[in-house]
Amino acid sequence: MTSITNDLLYDELFIAGEWCPSVSGRRIPILNPATGETIAEVAYGGRDDTRMALDRAAEALPAWARLTAVERARFLRRWYDLILSHIDELAAILTAEQGKPIREARAEIAYGAQFIEWFAEEGKRAYGEIIPTNLPGRRLLTIKQPVGVTAAVTPWNFPMAMIARKVGPAMAAGCPMVIKPASETPLSALALAGLAVQAGVPEGVLSVIPGPGSEVGDELATNKTVKAISFTGSTEVGKRLMAQAAGTVKKVALELGGNAPILVFDDADLDTAVDGVMASKFRNAGQTCVCANRIYVQDGIYEDFISKFNAAVQSMTVGDGLDADTDQGPLINDEAVAKVEHHIADAVSRGATVTTGGGRHGLGGTYFEPTVIVGATSEMAVAQEETFGPLAAVFRFKTEAEGIAQANDTPFGLAAYFFTRDLARAWRVGEGLEYGVVAVNTGSFSYEGAPFGGVKESGVGREGSAHGIEEFLDIKYMCIDGLETE
Ligand code: SIN
Repeated sequence: MTSITNDLLYDELFIAGEWCPSVSGRRIPILNPATGETIAEVAYGGRDDTRMALDRAAEALPAWARLTAVERARFLRRWYDLILSHIDELAAILTAEQGKPIREARAEIAYGAQFIEWFAEEGKRAYGEIIPTNLPGRRLLTIKQPVGVTAAVTPWNFPMAMIARKVGPAMAAGCPMVIKPASETPLSALALAGLAVQAGVPEGVLSVIPGPGSEVGDELATNKTVKAISFTGSTEVGKRLMAQAAGTVKKVALELGGNAPILVFDDADLDTAVDGVMASKFRNAGQTCVCANRIYVQDGIYEDFISKFNAAVQSMTVGDGLDADTDQGPLINDEAVAKVEHHIADAVSRGATVTTGGGRHGLGGTYFEPTVIVGATSEMAVAQEETFGPLAAVFRFKTEAEGIAQANDTPFGLAAYFFTRDLARAWRVGEGLEYGVVAVNTGSFSYEGAPFGGVKESGVGREGSAHGIEEFLDIKYMCIDGLETE
């Protein structure tokens, strides 16, 4: 076991203000993907722990919901300040359990904190409406109210920010939340809970239960106390959760797989395009739902793009995320490495060529070389499913219509990108892409004030922005009669 000294390192379940072992006594080792060493042995919860947390959340609900949005915002604001003043400790924990470069970890903490701040303020703007009446003596209006107890199931690729963008709006709306963090990365979630205690967040408003999806996740998705569940992760698990949630007709917000395309048109600025593809493809070693998975490059710019892009990828530094000059850390586990290897082997067997990287990195473990393949085509596995790793697959296309058709040729629809300097094309292509987010001339678009979410099998609902809080609010229509004045 490696010991990391950090005041925010907790290893018990967090249930309603208490740090406690799991009912079963089970614990799970949390591994540092950079070294394979155990960082901590964390309590591993099950159904009983989850039910306990839900009961405590239900007890906390009335008082939390009754506070004004301004009062709730004060708790959230204190939490936000504490997160930012502990950014170094939080980033160290995040990199240790997840592997991403420390500067990306710091960026994630800052990004996550912004959701807490944004929604603290947005809670104050959860406006209802006055509806012009249809009858004299009657007035019609709507108010928005918290849905009740909520749950979040969050992924390992953003162990902090994906929690913040669920719990921020839930708490701002007046809803307690029980969180199941990914089993690989529960330490960031527990550290956040530790700071929530310091911020004075009342007991029961927040609980964190690391544990298996088959127990904690299932309980959250089926328990009738939970009125809304928000999930970020694979489409396969999202579909199962949606079906489970149907049993008690919960609200669901699902942010699922992506298979994002990037189109580089002939008229693009080459440097902007290369920078944008690098930023999108290699963020978190290719392990985000919005990483470019299919890079479509038009004929006229193809050769120039390939040569500049290969040079940029070859200049990347692979290493332990804690080293300041690391551009790409290790992958999360062996399964992730196996998927990248499978996509490369499948592509090569169908005619693609590896132009950079192509195999496991000399550092060993789960380190993988940043890789480029050219000559990718639609029947390859890499075209059909997300690699979720540092493999850039480049496809070639001729016309705008062909590029859009190929980009849309997937059951997924989370994020798409394209590069062009033609304003008319920017509108045409932007409107033609079947995605929840379309980024033009940039490889990074994430911002707490903008709606994030997918169409097709990439999910339902939106996170961030004024829309994000709606997932945790019910609309109540009030019809008030008997208001005749004479
Ligand atoms: C994700 O991979 O789902 C999150 C990416 C982001 O919010 O930028």
